Amino acid sequence: MTHDSILILSCNDGAVDLALEELRGVASDAVLLEKLAEDVLLVDAGMPFAALAATWRRTPPIFVRHLAPVQVVAPLGGHTGDPAYLARMLPAALPPLETTQSFSVQARVLADAAYKPFDLNTPLSAALSGESGPPLDVRAPAQVVTVICAALKTWQPDPQLLLGGAALGKGTRLAALAGVSLAVDNLSSWGGGMRRFAREEGQISRAEFKLLEALEVFGIVLPSHGVALDLGAAPGGWTRVLRRAGQYVTAIDPGELDARLADDRGVRHLRMTAEHYLQAEPDAFDIIVNDMRMDARDSARVMAAYAKLLYPHGWALMTVKLPEHDRKPVLDQTFAILRPAYTLAGARQLFHNRSEITLYLKPRR
Ligand SMILES: C[S@@+](CC[C@H](N)C(=O)[O-])C[C@H]1O[C@@H](n2cnc3c(N)ncnc32)[C@H](O)[C@@H]1O
Repeated sequence: MTHDSILILSCNDGAVDLALEELRGVASDAVLLEKLAEDVLLVDAGMPFAALAATWRRTPPIFVRHLAPVQVVAPLGGHTGDPAYLARMLPAALPPLETTQSFSVQARVLADAAYKPFDLNTPLSAALSGESGPPLDVRAPAQVVTVICAALKTWQPDPQLLLGGAALGKGTRLAALAGVSLAVDNLSSWGGGMRRFAREEGQISRAEFKLLEALEVFGIVLPSHGVALDLGAAPGGWTRVLRRAGQYVTAIDPGELDARLADDRGVRHLRMTAEHYLQAEPDAFDIIVNDMRMDARDSARVMAAYAKLLYPHGWALMTVKLPEHDRKPVLDQTFAILRPAYTLAGARQLFHNRSEITLYLKPRR
């Protein structure tokens, strides 16, 4: 173990085994130290955080949603004095922040404690920015201070990591695990990769968040007045998001669209399956999105057949539903079906994906 190899990984609960497999694919000596929560893992990567982050910057993982280093372990009491204690002690114990670059504190409390993340973020941010410190930017920080308060079960941190040589209590073993990193090294600039969107007036479905998150994560800019095809469109959340961004949408679904889309002349709803529309002399599109509830491989076959309808500058986004068992082989088969038709520009399990992942595809020509 090197003391810069202790990390916190976040993934969707239900994808822990896949996230660990991904980690071991690039860090063969990685060890799971303990689960801090269903979706938060404390690991010894067996390699420095910086090296792992550099690898994943080049080729992002699918299932690991967020990554943060553990550079300091501060034993806590769980009482209301903890936030002030951390605000007093952590700034000097952590590696210094770059004063010209923005920062944010991203705290999570994963154990019973008398405070919430907000109670930690506020005093710690004030202590770190101070009179001449870096500017605070919680939406798009360049640097992040991660603080995870958790009850450690078995892990014995290296004494070098323990704040002021303090020992962990015998009882709850509550501690703050803290580290400083560049947001680009964390795989997401949101704490734990938990990208939340405010509910909007007129929102049709929670599925809208999936599309918003995918556009952001893959850095996709929608064309102005593009022509989009939405496969599996009902009740119409994705169609609404695309319309709001100025796209003309052909919505394909045997199911009903929400009544609020009925009078929108920029939406053409065809009540049929995607397979049927393909037989019906379909148009060409700038964008194809697919959120169909369908076996991953069947959905990939449909998408492969649709590639010819995309303009060369076009792109596609699809969700891939993962089965309960054999998820890896099913995913490999799905990629193999898509590969002749598309290049894979991105693949991630997003915060708003449940047992599915989202793919960003560009047509091959
Ligand atoms: C999760 S919902 C889509 C939600 C939608 N993206 C939204 O934002 O409201 C899945 C949809 O896939 C549709 N679907 C399933 N099989 C289909 C097929 N073969 N062709 C077209 N739509 C299909 C279902 O009717 C269902 O409405």
